[in-house]
Amino acid sequence: MKKRPFIIDCDTGTDDAIALLAAYGCEEIELLGITSVNGNVREEYTSRNNLDLCEYVGFKCPVCRGADMPMASGYRNSSDMTHGHTGLGSIELPKATKTDFDSRKAAQFLYETAVEQKGELELLVIGPMTNIAIAIIQYPEFVSLVKHVWFMGGAVWGGNVTTNAEFNIWADPEAAHTVFMSGIPMTMVGLDVTLKAIMTKDDIKELRDNDTKSSVLAADLLDFMADRHERGGEDIIMHDALALAAALYPECMRYEDYWMDVELRGDYTRGHTFADFRNKMKKEPNVSAAMEVDVPAFRRWLVDKINSYKGE
Ligand code: RIB
Ligand code: CA
Repeated sequence: MKKRPFIIDCDTGTDDAIALLAAYGCEEIELLGITSVNGNVREEYTSRNNLDLCEYVGFKCPVCRGADMPMASGYRNSSDMTHGHTGLGSIELPKATKTDFDSRKAAQFLYETAVEQKGELELLVIGPMTNIAIAIIQYPEFVSLVKHVWFMGGAVWGGNVTTNAEFNIWADPEAAHTVFMSGIPMTMVGLDVTLKAIMTKDDIKELRDNDTKSSVLAADLLDFMADRHERGGEDIIMHDALALAAALYPECMRYEDYWMDVELRGDYTRGHTFADFRNKMKKEPNVSAAMEVDVPAFRRWLVDKINSYKGE
């Protein structure tokens, strides 16, 4: 069975790191590269985290630096309690010494890989969509070469940065609008489902007992999230890993197809992902949105995937 070619574009971050640790254990995909973007923390940190994480667990693939600013605004996160100053919470990985960044920036790598994969390339996008939008704008044929975008972002109902905007979309709404309007087939894993995808202390124990570098690192990341929650921060929520599950374990969720776009204006609405669920626009759906999730089934899948990667 041919492995599905993937690139993961991420703003690593604690939950991005969990998604990467799970992806390393997914035999059904060929992870062709990881591209970094400004988001949870500055791009210098998200890129550093991606490179250090791969070397630490012995996973070999190109790691590219990407956009360090959104397309239109000047948004760059300072350190915050959700992901800590460097993006991996309280965890400090050894700095990579045997590997370095690919010479290509994210958009060029995304395009060249899409050309090589002859239309079979799938993207897991789990941070702001800046790199994807740049690739669409710089390389007009890119859109026709991407088979599917699976992304964590948005919400049909609600928000986490504002009442009705989710962080990945809110951080670069112009980029998200460009991707939403591109015509690339998309599956949205938004807050409608991710806010329910909460790991337990038993999951953490099972990962730690597995006793590989990957699973122990995952346990450490989840313990950081648990402590964060006890201090009043976000719970042990697997936003990004759930987007990976949409691609590789789709049956753990239920989806609804909507025509969607991203609100770019409004003091109270910028970054909102609008779903035309009353079909007032009479437009063909462009997004399949996850609306329900079987949380125990997802947690089982995630722990098994992380525990299955044995590294070098
Ligand atoms: O809103 C959650 C998303 O924002 C996740 O991708 C998290 O990593 C942050 O990027
Ligand atoms: Ca992320």
